[in-house]
Amino acid sequence: MNKFFVTTPLYYVNDVPHVGHAYTTITADVIARYWRQKLGKKNVFFLTGTDEHGSNVAQAAEKAGKSPKEYADEIAPRFAEAWKLLNIDYDFFIRTTDPRHEKIAREVLQKIYDNGWIYEGLYEGFYCVGCEKFITEADIIDKKCPLHPTRKLIYQKEKNYFFKLSRFAPEILSEIKSGEYEILPEARKNEVIGRLEQGVQDISISRAGVAWGISVPWNKSQTIYVWVEALFNYYTATQFLVGKKNFWPADLHLIGKDILWFHAVIWPALLLAAKLPLPKQLFAHGFFTIDGQKMSKSLGNVISPKQLVDKYGLDGTRYLLLSAYQFGSDGDLSLPKFDEKYNADLANGLGNLVARVTKLCDTTNLSLPDKELTISSPVAQRIEEYRFNDALGVIWAVIAEANRSFNEDKPWELKGKPLNEVLTKQIIRIGQVATDLQPFLPETSEKILKQFSGKIKSQPPLFPRI
Ligand code: MSP
Repeated sequence: MNKFFVTTPLYYVNDVPHVGHAYTTITADVIARYWRQKLGKKNVFFLTGTDEHGSNVAQAAEKAGKSPKEYADEIAPRFAEAWKLLNIDYDFFIRTTDPRHEKIAREVLQKIYDNGWIYEGLYEGFYCVGCEKFITEADIIDKKCPLHPTRKLIYQKEKNYFFKLSRFAPEILSEIKSGEYEILPEARKNEVIGRLEQGVQDISISRAGVAWGISVPWNKSQTIYVWVEALFNYYTATQFLVGKKNFWPADLHLIGKDILWFHAVIWPALLLAAKLPLPKQLFAHGFFTIDGQKMSKSLGNVISPKQLVDKYGLDGTRYLLLSAYQFGSDGDLSLPKFDEKYNADLANGLGNLVARVTKLCDTTNLSLPDKELTISSPVAQRIEEYRFNDALGVIWAVIAEANRSFNEDKPWELKGKPLNEVLTKQIIRIGQVATDLQPFLPETSEKILKQFSGKIKSQPPLFPRI
């Protein structure tokens, strides 16, 4: 593998960023940083951005008394700010209102049309604006969308364009089964295979009544269904940015399990219809609750990235989110547990180790040997398998062992050569820990490596106790 292209979902601008968005984006950042170390910066492309069209955004704008574009212009930078706060080093932030995206999205749709995979039909049924999704009778509970019970379903009967999804289902099924398009984790793959085997219907890919969107190239009275056009972003960005063409196909799409079907089935079908190569991997992670409850505005428990950074610091936040539970499963973010874990692992574990070792080094001339360090293989392997909490577990086992042997060696009672030997052992270990931490806690990693190169000196604590 000589290049790596990783994407996050494009987040809706109908809402400001919360910790759910941050979770996916931090993970993508870890992966991008890892591959940059391995392949070099120019061979990695990390794309994120915002999804700005559709009824949901138009309604939110109306509520705020703004035009959709004004509204999107206000919210999109909030995402960019949040990513800055979390030290997310993305290569490009795409907005679906970017005219370059709009142009290529239209071209791709035109190609699918020209290839004969789009036809005119009548759509009749319900639409959930919250999901931005046509919803089937079977999924309706008490006349409501189960995910948006406070919103009214919209009954729609209109002339739309349909995409022959059914025609591509067998091919998608075989791509997924063979692993050519690899869906992770395994349970998600099986879920998709199960649904595909039941058969799929064609889907409506345009809207007559939604003005806030990209117009259908051959019929300006319709707009492209927002989901179709948003999926195109992964491809369009590579085509309009200078020097990024060869990054398509994507190596990894990272998403939450809520948007699995769109990415696992509809997206590759659209690509096949446009005769474009399929992405290689799709990883759908789980959803978390907050202290055991669904995160929701009505419960008032939505956490912003800033709230966490204010309390735990930038790298503290990254650590706590990535180590909370296994990536891919559902989990819970427990704020009391965050405090405990912060103190145990960061303040006492890593922070204390660095503080004790540097304090004794103050009286010596020791420094980290000037040698290029690379991420250790047990950590690298776990990152490549998307087992981030396991990777951190490996690093923290080393930290625990370093603290344990420090107590046993009692270097504070030693002098001269025996002291230097004990400290050198610790310095080398800390150098490796800092290197392994680079994709996860880039700022801390850099601080430690700087502190240990040249004459080692004490510094204020890395993670002050809470
Ligand atoms: N705009 C679409 C995606 C289009 S991609 C071409 C969308 N946007 S969204 O703003 O609703 O973001 C959904 C994503 O946010 C999820 O897939 C997931 O990555 C993240 N999460 C939102 N809430 C979350 C949790 N409670 N837990 C984990 N991730 C969560 O869908």
